[in-house]
Amino acid sequence: MNAEEKIIRIAVDGPSGAGKSTIAKAVAARLGIDYIDTGAMYRAVGYKMINEGISVSDKDEVRLRDMLARTDIDFSGGSIILDGKIINDCIRTPEVSKMASDCSALPMVREKLVELQKNMAKSKSVIMDGRDIGTNVIKDAEYKFFMTASAEERAARRYKELAEKGDQSSYEQVLCDIKKRDENDSTRKLNPLRQADDAVLLDTTGMSIDEVVNHILAEVKE
Ligand code: DC
Repeated sequence: MNAEEKIIRIAVDGPSGAGKSTIAKAVAARLGIDYIDTGAMYRAVGYKMINEGISVSDKDEVRLRDMLARTDIDFSGGSIILDGKIINDCIRTPEVSKMASDCSALPMVREKLVELQKNMAKSKSVIMDGRDIGTNVIKDAEYKFFMTASAEERAARRYKELAEKGDQSSYEQVLCDIKKRDENDSTRKLNPLRQADDAVLLDTTGMSIDEVVNHILAEVKE
């Protein structure tokens, strides 16, 4: 497919650890289109809140508004850039994961990031992954997928990833964190994690990365 012939927007939603980013990155490379990791954007905001000592409580509302007004998030060369600095690695800690999930429930944060995301997907082909892409950010996406896997398999994948980076968290702790985040992400009032009515469900439990990538490519090329 020549991505310049026609704009295609692919929305990939699903819970933490379902493999969305690995798959979306591979699909983007195969189709020659941009990959936008919206979870990394919530992580960037969470990371900055931790650094500036801003909590999600109402008492910090004014400070958060001020912080968001001077926050610039962009992607370049496969990296996420927060206020001019590459922050790929520092946003993958359990502490930032928790803050990203907590701050993603705040209307002020979602408003800012959803607007940025809509602009990023405005006039070019993209594959964007997150929780509310097919239901909210790109409602009219040409292709929508909802990717999931059992909590145990997702925890095992995340545990392996963290252990390779030297993180000491136990498998039980990672599983418990994943379940808490699932609960947080799918029960929040604003744009909760939900499968869009017109999204294709992909349960990746027991599937290899290649199998999932090929499945998506087959749908898109059809
Ligand atoms: O995909 P991730 O685990 O890196 O996302 C981090 C957090 O950001 C996750 O707990 C939920 C939130 N998020 C969201 O609310 N909406 C999105 N479109 C993407 C992520």
